[in-house]
Amino acid sequence: MRVAVVGCGYVGLVAAACFAELGHQVTTVDNDEAKIAALKAGDPLIHEDYLPELILRHHGKRLAFSCDLAEAVRQSQIVVIAVGTPADPSGEADLSFVETATREIAQAINGYKVIVEKSTVPVHTNAWIQRAMVFNGCSVADFDVVSNPEFLREGTAVTDFLYPDRIITGCRSERAARVMKELYAPLLDGTYVQQPDAVPPPDDAVPKPLYIETAPETSELIKHASNAFLAMKISFINAVSAMAEAAGADIEDVRIGMGSDKRIGTRFLRAGIGYGGSCFPKDVSAFRAIAQSCGCDFTLLDEVQRINQEQLTRFIDKVRKTLWTTKGKRLAALGLAFKSGTDDIRESPAINVIQELLSRDCQITAYDPAAMERTRALLGDSIAYAPDPYSAMKDADALLILTEWKEFAGLDLAEVKRLLKYPIVLDGRNLYKPQAMAAAGLDYYSIGRPPLEVSHPMPNRARIAKMS
Ligand code: UDX
Repeated sequence: MRVAVVGCGYVGLVAAACFAELGHQVTTVDNDEAKIAALKAGDPLIHEDYLPELILRHHGKRLAFSCDLAEAVRQSQIVVIAVGTPADPSGEADLSFVETATREIAQAINGYKVIVEKSTVPVHTNAWIQRAMVFNGCSVADFDVVSNPEFLREGTAVTDFLYPDRIITGCRSERAARVMKELYAPLLDGTYVQQPDAVPPPDDAVPKPLYIETAPETSELIKHASNAFLAMKISFINAVSAMAEAAGADIEDVRIGMGSDKRIGTRFLRAGIGYGGSCFPKDVSAFRAIAQSCGCDFTLLDEVQRINQEQLTRFIDKVRKTLWTTKGKRLAALGLAFKSGTDDIRESPAINVIQELLSRDCQITAYDPAAMERTRALLGDSIAYAPDPYSAMKDADALLILTEWKEFAGLDLAEVKRLLKYPIVLDGRNLYKPQAMAAAGLDYYSIGRPPLEVSHPMPNRARIAKMS
């Protein structure tokens, strides 16, 4: 099938590469000429496993990049809208990019098309797109609009797309429903995974995704409600982590104890410094706003946001209490990305922690396996950048772990102890067992677990003298 994907952000780019991988002829369109030029030159723009390989495999064959939306629409049977829906100052989703894309699609239409709404949008956006198409001169016979939300996570976006738990399509037209089934056929009939060069499935891949055909507004609600629910799960465990700290309990055991109940599950139940990224913060506030406009006072979502913010404040407070004073302290920060597996720093709790500590006159040396370049563009020389985790912690007053990268969970703790000026580790992601830190002679402060102080709280003068 011929597919046009409008928008080269996370969702658009991954969807385009994956639709090409499924055998479709795809043109990806963006009005940012620099982005398109970079993609044509082979730069995948984002750090995402398998994306460079898919772009290399299909570019120039089944995958094209272009700034010409009208031409891409004219050539295609299916037009996927995957433009950004950022939060506006009131917390509502700003749908102006969706509206502009709709208008341009309407002006280019030259026969029946299925318009697929893949951006995360508030309920009733499907109806708004239909109305805008008609207002811009399209006959209702020339198009159908399908809501087809995307559930991919950054870092595992390609495998999430190719091995989804479920595919949701919301529309009222049988013709469009048939087109959507054909679009996803290799995933629905299991033929994709059998291809010799298929991207390998993750361990927890389901054999065949659940395919849910429903009404557009139901489909739209599923997406927002899913993200808000996951954010709520994280805020719930974070609120419990505050109680665990106060009560002297261990949140990691609480998580396993709760999560082993199949109705609850351990996933998205990791306590930390809060959720971030381009989706959860934006989607929770957009869902809150749309609930309000539907006349539903969904105040639970306010709490989800408040707890998330408070988790950050509590961590900063922990840093201050542990270091006695913060002014002039040299801190090693491991992690900048909002989570592991990505170079994305949008709404990153790690960056928020660093900015707060900078405002308290701390000096930060940071390391992240993927997000250094993006952080440099944002924070410039206000922090120092280390080439590896160990260089970051040399002579630092304390080590902060801010992102859950796997490599930060396997540090040589004897080396950490040797390099740090003071043997203090503040772990915002609970990557270690306190016993391992104790064995290495490190004081360890994590989330929702009792602090572990094995060393004398005063500076280790003998060791400093030896190092200098
Ligand atoms: C999310 C949804 O998971 C995905 O389905 C949707 O399509 C887009 O939004 P993403 O933003 O890529 O995906 O990240 P996700 O893996 O969900 O993590 C979001 C944030 O929550 C990260 O900051 C992460 O560190 C944090 N998190 C996640 C926790 O603090 N604890 C957890 O147990 C899980």
